[in-house]
Amino acid sequence: MPTCKFFKWKIYIMDSLLIKGGVRLDGEVNVSGAKNACLPMFAATLLTDEKCVLKNVPNLSDVRFMADIVKALGAEVSNPVEGVWEIQAKNISHIAPYELVRKMRASICLIGPLSARLHKAEVSLPGGCVIGARPVDLHIKGMKALNCQVEIERGYICIDARRMRGAQMYLGGRFGSTVTGTANVLMAAVLAPGTTVIENAACEPEIADLCKMLVGMGALIEGAGSPTLTITGVPRLGGTQHSVLPDRIEAGTWLAAAAASKGKVLVNGAQKKYLSSFLDILERAECPYEVRSQDSIYIDATNVKLKPVEAVTLPYPGLPTDLQAQICALMTQADGISIITERIYPERFMHVPELARMGANISREGPSAIISGKTKLSGAPVMASDLRASAALVIAALAAKGETHIHRIYHLDRGYDSIDKKLQLLGAKIERLKNSD
Ligand code: EPZ
Repeated sequence: MPTCKFFKWKIYIMDSLLIKGGVRLDGEVNVSGAKNACLPMFAATLLTDEKCVLKNVPNLSDVRFMADIVKALGAEVSNPVEGVWEIQAKNISHIAPYELVRKMRASICLIGPLSARLHKAEVSLPGGCVIGARPVDLHIKGMKALNCQVEIERGYICIDARRMRGAQMYLGGRFGSTVTGTANVLMAAVLAPGTTVIENAACEPEIADLCKMLVGMGALIEGAGSPTLTITGVPRLGGTQHSVLPDRIEAGTWLAAAAASKGKVLVNGAQKKYLSSFLDILERAECPYEVRSQDSIYIDATNVKLKPVEAVTLPYPGLPTDLQAQICALMTQADGISIITERIYPERFMHVPELARMGANISREGPSAIISGKTKLSGAPVMASDLRASAALVIAALAAKGETHIHRIYHLDRGYDSIDKKLQLLGAKIERLKNSD
């Protein structure tokens, strides 16, 4: 890592993306495994001393971070072939240090498995996040409900779980259910003596897939994918092999990109059953799509005249907040006024000023973005601020006239596996500029 010779500062060199807009996307794209399913699954492997094999794992920096974290805790971790990770957590530590946890919020998912397996955990509190306030009070509430002692000390969540036992609890907060909060309590309860009932559990498909993995390890879980999860604790869990479900957020991103570029794209891995709220947006925008199979959707937006929509993000099965920015970018190409309201992270609008730089007529009204279209976007230098905002900038760049230079794309690489290569295969004029930032 180069340093500045005067001040010994480390200089982080990053990639950026150059996209020449106005090209209609054309062809097939394969969706990778779901980031938000496999991150808690890496943590779940700590629940047993036997080997766990995860398949269809996306090639993402977040995945490598999580692998580094479980490795630092003492697990044997290997990645024998692309998409396959083998983890065996024979002897592990209960301490997840700040240096590791600060890199990725999802490492909060360690508190459940470590508490269950080692009856204690010390996990650094995750840092701040640009998308808004992300407290962990519900995670703590859930662990306390399981009769754990929970203290915040030295910036760490310290858990004494020697007397942990199953319990009934309501795990809803101001913004509804919590995804990783549900994952944490679930991963603790699978080894807690007695029965746990989680009311207002997250219903996200990623949680249902985590339940499927845990059941494969020998856990007793009922109600996966529903707001009521019932877990009967067992004395121990074994190893398993699990294939991660496709990423519905990546699938939605490709459908929005195809629509914005007026392209023709078959998205393999797009499962209608998990995308109904997003497909409802396409229907109301009068953007036709065709369900080709259980897990592929075809979109032909060649002659589309997008209509404006009003939409509100909500916990699953509502409209995912992780597709909000992409929908904002798409609606810049609709004839009329769209209102996109964010009910999960009311401040999650870092993409708005950057879209405006490209000529979008977009403004903020409290938790809503007001988008007046259709606007002719023009290529511009823009800055990625977080994962989904950067996906929105890619979509806008595809629809724009001229070249867009997207900086800080490490955000994109956290959640999209080889997005530039996949775009090239769809005919996009895109170039990754190595070490250019
Ligand atoms: C998960 O985050 C996803 N991350 C996020 O995806 C996603 O945006 C979010 O769920 C909502 O769908 C992973 O799965 C790794 P929450 P999580 O706890 O679990 C509030 C992406 O782009 N809350 O469901 O951290 C919270 O502030 C990322 O891939 C509390 O108040 O989200 C938010 O408003 C970004 N107290 C709401 O609940 C708590 O203890 C939902 O948060 C926990 C959450």
